[in-house]
Amino acid sequence: SMAHVQLHTGGRMPVIGLGMWPGYSQEEKRQTGATVKAAVAAGYRHFDSASVYGNEKDIGLALQEIFLSGAVTRGDLWITSKLWNPDHDRVQEACDQTLQDLQLDYLDLYLIHWPVRVKEHYQQEDGTRKTEIVPLQLDETWKKMEQLVRTGRVRAIGVSNFSSKKIDHLLANATIVPAVNQVECHPVWQQKALHDYCTSKAIHLSGYSPLGNWGPKVLGHPIVREIADKLSKSPAQVALRWGIQMGHSVLPKSSNPDRLKENLDIFGWSIPDEDFQKLSGIQQERLIKGTMWVNDTSPYKRVEDLWDE
Ligand code: A2P
Repeated sequence: SMAHVQLHTGGRMPVIGLGMWPGYSQEEKRQTGATVKAAVAAGYRHFDSASVYGNEKDIGLALQEIFLSGAVTRGDLWITSKLWNPDHDRVQEACDQTLQDLQLDYLDLYLIHWPVRVKEHYQQEDGTRKTEIVPLQLDETWKKMEQLVRTGRVRAIGVSNFSSKKIDHLLANATIVPAVNQVECHPVWQQKALHDYCTSKAIHLSGYSPLGNWGPKVLGHPIVREIADKLSKSPAQVALRWGIQMGHSVLPKSSNPDRLKENLDIFGWSIPDEDFQKLSGIQQERLIKGTMWVNDTSPYKRVEDLWDE
């Protein structure tokens, strides 16, 4: 059975969640419902969604079928979603849309997806929308997030892609401490300093792209492969197990039934100390840089500004 982490809210979150981003593949997006059903059958109880992924209606339909079948109840599942960048000034409306799409009456966790606030301008001339990245108004946005907890729409709130500096700013006027900071995290981008900072504030660090996303940097890393061979596990299992042993939760994505099962099979064994040490020594590299939020008119002029490096 699945292990859990306890958030400062008291909520018990399953340590493995299925990442629901379908990538840029329309085919994969069409598979969303089937993936959710295969995942629940395989033992997944935690789904990591977001409105921008564009498949929350498909997830909602699949969940309704699953609940009707009696396989699991709503209370057996942990469901996370995220506030998209243009919605920082309309938090309640965005959350209500997500609840409607997912056909749920509450979320277990709702995150600010990026520390990026976007204004959309309607262009009268050609009927298109122009988007502009504008400065964050964290205090205002977070107050609206807190209101979601008070009104029972969500059980916990948090952030994603936030640096310790941005969390510090948020905490200065927050009533509710974020329960989670969800960030890129895997053996090639271990987030040691951010992990320590979050721990000191009782914020749980949840790792997205724990397999290194689409590229070979993590699963093809010689040290990861060497340890996998030695332990007779797959590189994916070693990467995920590393996250669990660090005390993170991990959000691997797969739409393949065999890999869905493989990625859950990381309990009842562990990475021995000496191998864990070797993983700690891996040369570090951020793979998801967020360059799409960086330009001359954005408050983030350089990638370093986005991450406060
Ligand atoms: P697929 O959906 O075909 O399984 P991340 O979670 O780091 O974003 O990585 C997701 C990518 O890793 C997807 O392309 C997914 O492909 C692939 N993947 C998922 N599980 C495994 C696994 N156990 N071994 C190899 N690749 C995997």
